[in-house]
Amino acid sequence: MRKLLVTIGLLTLFVSAAFAGGDGEKGSGGALPDITLEGYSRETDERMGFDLQWKVDGQTLRVQMAALTTGWIAVGFDPTNMMANANFLIGYVSNGTPFMSDHFGDGTFKHTQDTKLGGKDNFSDVEGEEINGATLIRFSIPLDSGDAYDKPLEQGKTYRVIYAYGPDGKDDFATYHSKNRGGFEITL
Ligand code: HEM
Repeated sequence: MRKLLVTIGLLTLFVSAAFAGGDGEKGSGGALPDITLEGYSRETDERMGFDLQWKVDGQTLRVQMAALTTGWIAVGFDPTNMMANANFLIGYVSNGTPFMSDHFGDGTFKHTQDTKLGGKDNFSDVEGEEINGATLIRFSIPLDSGDAYDKPLEQGKTYRVIYAYGPDGKDDFATYHSKNRGGFEITL
């Protein structure tokens, strides 16, 4: 009888671990989604688990970002120092719905939502999904929104882009990224 109870207990543990998280908020161990957009440029940091694809389309920059987390993921265009003065686009997917926020680097290690600084949310065409432990988000931003809390971008020019992502399941715009951050240069 005791053996049977132990077996049932272990089975219950196994089943609840397998289904933990419900909406895909599972632990790491997945892979970056292998989705290559035609006509887009690409920069992938396999080691850090971050992928960025981008394309200038008229006066619009179309972006796909993906990172190895089920929490928030973000890019910051054209910082001057660390996180300062970058135009941040931060997003997460919760229960299959993408959420996005436009922030500005108002300090070396700080960012604040544009709308709280007197600017606007400048993004559109937001799509997103969680795939195999990773989060993928697509969005568009104007090359030059005219907002003091975005950065004007020009086709053909090279910019530093920083990225970061939060721990698994942290569907917010605030949890510290810890070591999950980096940067590279891209040419639009
Ligand atoms: C969500 C809230 C955030 C907090 C509380 C935060 C906080 C910090 C802190 C304390 C540091 C210095 C320590 C370190 O190097 O880890 C740092 C560095 C950094 N953060 Fe953030 N950060 C946040 C969001 C972001 C976002 C959204 C991005 C990019 C899209 C980002 C990109 C970076 C990068 C690239 C560095 C390293 C800078 C360098 O060494 O050149 N952070 N952040």
